[in-house]
Amino acid sequence: MTISEVYIHARHADGATDLVGRYRLVASAAGSSYGEFVYVGSWRRNDHGRAFALDPDHLPLQQGPFRSTGRGRLPGVLADTTPDRWGRRLIEYRRPPGRPLMTACDWLLATSDERVGCLAFSETPALPPLRPSYAAEADLDDIADGFERLDRGEAVEGLAARLWGAGASMGGARPKAVVTHEGALWIAKFQRRDDTYDQCGAEHAALRLASRCGIDAAETNLLTVGPRKVVLVKRFDRDPATHTPTCHYISGLTVLGLDETSASGSYPDLALFLLRHGARHVSDRRELFRRMVFNVLCGNRDDHLKNHAFLRRDGGWRLSPAFDVVPQPDMDPQQAIGVGRSGSYPTTGNCLTRARDFDLSPDDARAIVADLTARMRLWRQDFAADGVDDASIGQLARAFSKDLDRPSAL
Ligand SMILES: Nc1ncnc2c1ncn2[C@@H]1O[C@H](COP(=O)(O)OP(=O)(O)O)[C@@H](O)[C@H]1O
Ligand SMILES: [Mg+2]
Repeated sequence: MTISEVYIHARHADGATDLVGRYRLVASAAGSSYGEFVYVGSWRRNDHGRAFALDPDHLPLQQGPFRSTGRGRLPGVLADTTPDRWGRRLIEYRRPPGRPLMTACDWLLATSDERVGCLAFSETPALPPLRPSYAAEADLDDIADGFERLDRGEAVEGLAARLWGAGASMGGARPKAVVTHEGALWIAKFQRRDDTYDQCGAEHAALRLASRCGIDAAETNLLTVGPRKVVLVKRFDRDPATHTPTCHYISGLTVLGLDETSASGSYPDLALFLLRHGARHVSDRRELFRRMVFNVLCGNRDDHLKNHAFLRRDGGWRLSPAFDVVPQPDMDPQQAIGVGRSGSYPTTGNCLTRARDFDLSPDDARAIVADLTARMRLWRQDFAADGVDDASIGQLARAFSKDLDRPSAL
């Protein structure tokens, strides 16, 4: 049976839960389909004092219904919680052949409560009990082994379903699983057979360098598990002790109302979202400018809109910690989204053309570029100290801005 209705709940940091709304998939007689979302009255009226718009621009706290036709017929904020390429692959792998295609409702219900943010889904209005499905650090070797066999097209047997649950619930394309490490929840991202350089080490080193450059970056740890490296990224949406959700999550793609096929969207557009809805829009817009310049200088060309996110905190929207920051020597030398008046052209000069959108005077913006350039100049030493081998550093150098090798960049 194909489920065509799903109830949406929010789990709050203090342990309280609320029924938020209902989503239904409507199939028209002509064979096309669309989604419809409504808030339940108690959430819309804010009966319990905990309500907020799941997406301030596209799902305001109003009667609705809100219709969705893009992103698999899901409102963007719900699509954000469903698996991407990697998780979908895991889920499809375990389904018997010949089953009908998964619908939008199936995707909402397919993953465990490890999904990003604080939303939970059920087939009835009753909140389902929390279903933890993360793995333990000790399982990492088995999981990595299973993922590699899957990548080679081999059958994977004997792995507990729990391990697949740990792998399927997060977005993104790279193989990953949610695991416990030092008591908290982390996302384990695995090396891939066809990686031409140390991706895990590069992600760990880049996020640590970002943090030393004054950027609020997700905490990472680099492990060696059997023959391979694994980078662990600490979850910023889970309580480190209880593992329960702490905040609602929305991607940059969703706040701009775009879908994955769109070629538009820019850092200044994200800054405008913060200006309108941010709980601390001045500091968060300046932080966004710093991240943009960092991505340009380190050659992180994969800075697409799903690699930016906002969290519902402090009674409003805050920029999430930076994640998925990796220099990309094999990608076209242009950013995935616009940085300035010359679109995605990856230069600090282009970044400076829209400084005002980030609440920065031209002088302040230039000072940030100079500061980052100075702090990033010795990136090779930093990466080596963080465990990246010489051969990988040699390859990664193609991604980093040549400005960093000049004595005076400005
Ligand atoms: N530290 C984190 N805490 C919570 N959610 C995260 C964190 N890092 C990433 N995510 C979520 O997981 C998704 C996939 O992670 P990402 O690092 O982008 O993987 P990939 O390299 O496969 O794109 C992100 O799009 C985001 O929704
Ligand atoms: Mg990503």
